[in-house]
Amino acid sequence: MRNYTLAASVLALATGLSATSAMAAGKLNLYCSAQEDWCQLMARSFEEATGIDVDMTRKSSGETFAQIKAEEVNPKGDVWWGGTGDPHLQAAEEDLTEPYVSAMRDQLHDWAIKQATSAGDKTIGIYSGALGFGYNTKLLADNNLPAPTCWEDLTKPEFKGHVQMANPNSSGTAYTTLATMVQLFGEEKGFDYMKRLHANINQYTKSGSAPIKAAGTGETTVGIVFMHDSVAQTVAGFPVVTVAPCEGTGYEIGSMSIIKGARNMDEAKQFYDWALSAEAQNLALQVNAFQVASNKAATSSDKAPNMDLIKLIDYDFKLYGSSDERKRLLEKWDNEVSTLPQ
Ligand code: G6P
Repeated sequence: MRNYTLAASVLALATGLSATSAMAAGKLNLYCSAQEDWCQLMARSFEEATGIDVDMTRKSSGETFAQIKAEEVNPKGDVWWGGTGDPHLQAAEEDLTEPYVSAMRDQLHDWAIKQATSAGDKTIGIYSGALGFGYNTKLLADNNLPAPTCWEDLTKPEFKGHVQMANPNSSGTAYTTLATMVQLFGEEKGFDYMKRLHANINQYTKSGSAPIKAAGTGETTVGIVFMHDSVAQTVAGFPVVTVAPCEGTGYEIGSMSIIKGARNMDEAKQFYDWALSAEAQNLALQVNAFQVASNKAATSSDKAPNMDLIKLIDYDFKLYGSSDERKRLLEKWDNEVSTLPQ
């Protein structure tokens, strides 16, 4: 009997597999806000694991939020994977995403689960990483600049035209920067800092990690980014040094959400469960994504920034991921900072 059951299940599995390869196994529209090569690898690996066809679009966190909002009555995406947690929390509050409690949840660090419970299970933490900056050592020397170690150093007159960051409207990295300054220095001094920094900015990019890629190739001296993005440039062979700012810094809980009204809801849940596994999270190492993974059993690289050695603020995700506060800060930055002459 036992053998029969086993034989029958092997047969069923084999038939199931051949049926899967004969028919289309379903599809998934994945909105991705992590780095492009990681997004590609996640999409292809999920396809290989399940036979489900994945159509992936990479856009920055703020841009993806805006797209999901614009598509609210006619959703085109199924899962939003990656990107900073704040706009995922805003999407949850604005009822753009779907509650889901994965059986994989027990395998995650508390900080990842907390992100879920604070948002009615409409989002969850998939990785974390601290904000900082990186600089090109060659450009620094060529311009006779002192090595910056603090946020304050980046506002010194000699750094004029040497600093690059993303636009906080499109980029979650840059919104984390803005919210970090407000939490670190208080609202008035935080905005004062952003204004003084603005005087030294050579370009606001759309994507959060673009400034450190530009530092790697020598197009800017300093890039304000997540520290793991800066370390990735050094590992790729560019003359980039990563700094954990002396005043302390903020951090992100990179998140994942299922889009409300997803047309491929079953596939979305399958992706969600798979993306929380240690196996899927370990794919990060193949593309030099040095975030801290949310699955406790995932492997972290010895090249990853050590979060225990970084002076982290107690980032208030509930407040800075709330719809009103994110809108208010972005509007204030648009009106009071970005319009100032440089
Ligand atoms: C990079 C980082 C991620 C972060 C993402 C946000 O890809 O490696 O940790 O979540 O930027 O992207 P954005 O373009 O929205 O700043």
